[in-house]
Amino acid sequence: MDRQTSVYPEDPRTQTCCDIMDSAETPGLFDAVTVGAWHLPHRIVMAPLTRARAGSERLPNALMAEYYGQRASAALIVSEATIVSPQAAGYALTPGIYNEAQVAGWKGVVEAVKSRGGHIVCQLWHCGRISHPSMQPDGALPVAPSAVQPGESAGQSFTEEGWQPFPVPRALETDEIAGLVEDFRHAAENAKAAGFDGVEIHGANGYLINQFLCDGTNKRTDAYGGSIENRCRFLMELLAAVESVWPSDRIGVRLSPWGTFLDCEDSDPTALYSHLCQALDGRGLAYLSVVEREWLGDAAPEKDASVPPSITAFVRQRYGGTILSAGGYSCKTACAMVQAGAAELVAFGTAFIANPDLPQRIRDHAELNEVDRSTFYGGGAKGYTDYPFMERKAAE
Ligand code: PHB
Repeated sequence: MDRQTSVYPEDPRTQTCCDIMDSAETPGLFDAVTVGAWHLPHRIVMAPLTRARAGSERLPNALMAEYYGQRASAALIVSEATIVSPQAAGYALTPGIYNEAQVAGWKGVVEAVKSRGGHIVCQLWHCGRISHPSMQPDGALPVAPSAVQPGESAGQSFTEEGWQPFPVPRALETDEIAGLVEDFRHAAENAKAAGFDGVEIHGANGYLINQFLCDGTNKRTDAYGGSIENRCRFLMELLAAVESVWPSDRIGVRLSPWGTFLDCEDSDPTALYSHLCQALDGRGLAYLSVVEREWLGDAAPEKDASVPPSITAFVRQRYGGTILSAGGYSCKTACAMVQAGAAELVAFGTAFIANPDLPQRIRDHAELNEVDRSTFYGGGAKGYTDYPFMERKAAE
C-alpha cells in the first residue's frame, strides 16, 4: 500500500487511563453525551450480536424482548443484525424486519427497552454472498456484486440443516440494484413503525455493502464497480433512501476498514476509507461505527505495518462526527479511548452477553460474569436471559 501520505496515529488504547470515576477535564466513560437526536447518560453501548433465537420464521419474540430489556441500561443498544428482505438472509434463525409480523415482534422488543429508559436502533443487514440457496427464496443462488465465491477463510454457511459450503454467488444485474436500495428503505420504514430510536446501516464485516466497497469482491464494470466512488455508490444510494425515512441524526453507519472477515478485503483501504470518511462527514449522521480487528478475539488477523494500530484513530483523523468504536475492549481500553477523544462511544459485545448490567459493573469496578460460548447461537433462555444481575448474584 501507499504509505507516503499516511502516518498512522498512535493507538489511544495503549495510553494509561485515569480512574474512571474521576471527573477529569476530558469526558469519561460515564459522562453524558448527545449523539445525534439522543441524550445518552454514558458512553457504553451494547454491540450488535447475532444470537439466532428468532426461529425459522425470523420473528422477534418475547424471549428476545426479555433479553434486550435486561440490557436497557446500555447507553444505546444496537440490535443484532436484522435482514431487510428474504433475499438478505445468510444465517439460520436470525430476525428480519421486512414483514408485518416482524414489525409487531420488534415492537415488543423496543417497548421492553424504552420502558426501562433505554435507547435501541435496528441494524439493517443484507448478507449478500454469505448465504446458501437453502435460505434463499425459491432456492436461488445468493446475490453479490460479482460472482466471486468466498474463499476458505470465510468458513461455511450456518443453515438450519447444518454447516454448508458457500456457493459461487450470482452477480446482481445493474437494474436490480434499485430494488435492493428499496429493500433497505422499506426496512427503515418498518423500523420506524416498530418504534426504534433509529437505524444502523451494516456496511462492515464482509456482508453485501462491504462486498460492494472492496475491490476483492467487487469486479463490476458498471456504475457500481471500478473506481472507489463507484464502489461506494450502493452504500451512498441506500443511505439516501434511508434518509428519506429517518433524519440523518437517527442513522448510524458501520464500517470495518482493514477487515478481513469472510474473505472480504480491499487492496487499498487507506484510499477507500479516506474517501468514505469524507463522503460521510458533515452529513449529520448520529454516529459512525468502527470495527477494530480485535473484535475477532484470538481469531483476529495479525497486524503488519500496513495496518493502523487503531482503526478508530485512523477514522478520527478523517471524520469529524461522533464515533462508536467496537472490538475487544476492556474497561481500561474503553476508558482510554473516550478520554483520548478518539471515540465518543465504545461498544461491548461478549461482556454484554454475560452481564446484563454491564455499565453498573464497570462503574463499580465489580467482577464480570464468565461468558458461555456454547450458547452464543441458537437455543433458548440458557446463556441468553439467565445471566445474573449483580444484586441477584450478591443475594445468592
Ligand atoms: C454473525 O452472525 O456471525 C455476524 C453477524 C454480523 C456481523 C458479524 C458476524 O457483523
